[in-house]
Amino acid sequence: MLWLHPILQVLATFVALYAGYLGMERFLSRHLGKRTQFLWKRHVVVGKIALCTWLAGLGGGMFAAKLKWSVMLVTGQHYKVAFLMLPLILFGLASGLYMDRWKRKRLVLPLLHGLGNLLLLFLAFYQFRTGWAVIRDFIL
Ligand code: HEM
Ligand code: HEM
Repeated sequence: MLWLHPILQVLATFVALYAGYLGMERFLSRHLGKRTQFLWKRHVVVGKIALCTWLAGLGGGMFAAKLKWSVMLVTGQHYKVAFLMLPLILFGLASGLYMDRWKRKRLVLPLLHGLGNLLLLFLAFYQFRTGWAVIRDFIL
């Protein structure tokens, strides 16, 4: 049970990396004038999978901690970074859904969306470290 959360979050992070790769194609063509193809629908599907899994995993990790140790918010750095990720996940989802629903030429919102999600990717990789510390100190 305690392993489900780490495995899912690691998988979601690699899915997010792919979403970021697809998004970068868009960034290159819209802002740097490169001729690239943006796989819009695939980016939306892959991005949704990544962000929704992170979000569910955030709740799931807390639920598992409560179930196994009868307490929550005990993992220090790990849960603190998770709470930093929460607003960014919500913003990434909301901005993405909005731009997908109402398509038009935009400058600022796609940039904010890309920047926020890039930051999320860094934080998620950082969670590999803090999450490993939780496994080492609490589970192994
Ligand atoms: C990438 C996004 C991640 C988020 C948002 C996240 C969030 C959380 C949260 C909120 C908790 C509950 C902590 C508490 O109540 O103190 C938790 C628990 C935990 N996390 Fe993460 N986590 C992430 C990734 C990872 C990764 C990559 C690993 C392992 C390498 C990991 C390992 C753990 C472990 C072992 C627990 C204890 C509960 C359980 O195993 O289900 N997490 N996480
Ligand atoms: C980890 C997940 C995600 C990452 C890393 C990511 C990254 C990016 C990046 C870098 C761009 C290009 C921004 C620019 O041109 O300035 C972009 C554009 C876009 N993203 Fe995402 N994204 C993610 C999730 C999502 C989700 C969940 C949705 C929809 C539900 C979405 C919908 C869009 C749309 C529609 C655009 C094109 C906006 C436009 O140029 O008008 N993205 N994304």
